[in-house]
Amino acid sequence: MGVELAYTDAVARATAGLYAKVSKVIPEMEWPVHAPLIAEINRLKRERNAVILGHNYMTPEIFHCVSDFVGDSLALAREAARTDAAVIVQAGVHFMAETSKILSPQKTVLIPDTRAGCSLAASITAADVRLMRQKHPGLPVMTYVNTSADVKAESDICCTSGNAVAVVESIAKTFGTDTVIMIPDQYLARNVAAKTGVKVITWAGACEVHEKFTPQEIRDLRAANPGLTVLAHPECPPDVVAEADFAGSTAGMINYVGQHRPAKVVLITECSMSDNVAVEYPDLEFVRPCNLCPHMKRITLKAILHSLQTMTTEVTVDPIISARAKIAIDRMLAVKL
Ligand code: 13P
Ligand code: SF4
Repeated sequence: MGVELAYTDAVARATAGLYAKVSKVIPEMEWPVHAPLIAEINRLKRERNAVILGHNYMTPEIFHCVSDFVGDSLALAREAARTDAAVIVQAGVHFMAETSKILSPQKTVLIPDTRAGCSLAASITAADVRLMRQKHPGLPVMTYVNTSADVKAESDICCTSGNAVAVVESIAKTFGTDTVIMIPDQYLARNVAAKTGVKVITWAGACEVHEKFTPQEIRDLRAANPGLTVLAHPECPPDVVAEADFAGSTAGMINYVGQHRPAKVVLITECSMSDNVAVEYPDLEFVRPCNLCPHMKRITLKAILHSLQTMTTEVTVDPIISARAKIAIDRMLAVKL
């Protein structure tokens, strides 16, 4: 690739501070593999006037060593709308990159691996949404951000797991209805309905990572780890959420750990979360059962470097679809939490 990527003394010195931060979760023998990539990515970012938006499920070397901004889907969307950089590299999955492009159409948005999809986004099409509207005329359609731009364009408002309760209450009030179509995550919809007075009509979509957790798994974890605090993502089935002490978005779980400092905690979500949070809270014990998201794991340091070197793959959204999807996203961003 025309660039010397050896673990030289200069690279070791330049990345020593970063390694000190992640040394609890990245073995020392792995650092010579990561460090030259990290140094080159950080140099190229400056050259290209690029920012890397890293989701909370990125591996620690991406999350802590090259990302300029990290967070849940909601925070990344807000940052995409705000950043002054010319280029956004989305260290996350495709729907997140599309959301960034819709919010910042004048910027170049790159996804390091176009195969980084999402089982929820793949579960529903724009035609499905149109059919749902025909079946339930007059009801508002509230769509999880984990969907394609085409699906967002058919929606009245978007939500993330971080704001779904506030958004469903807001849209029900605006439409003067007690029932909202909330798609495509059947579990998120049911978990949100349980926390509000709003009834939901949903879709048969699910996150392939969170649907694997079971209530028995949580009970077994508690039995094996007395005093354990259990935090779960609301994409988990409702019977799993019922066993947890708290359910919230990836950022919601991180905030809970920061505020409550549970001595022993398990995050019922994607595997990299515990690594990333453990770096910030070395005094807490993280129990580590987790499920990997194969889509998030497509994003590697090598893929990010290649993306910045070649300025690929650029994410584009049809301007008419983009304008319609933006209305639904902007409505979501305007809801006060
Ligand atoms: P958050 O919005 O909580 O970060 O979730 C995104 C996601 O893909 C969870 O599986
Ligand atoms: Fe989609 Fe689930 Fe992966 Fe999140 S964790 S990107 S919801 S498949």
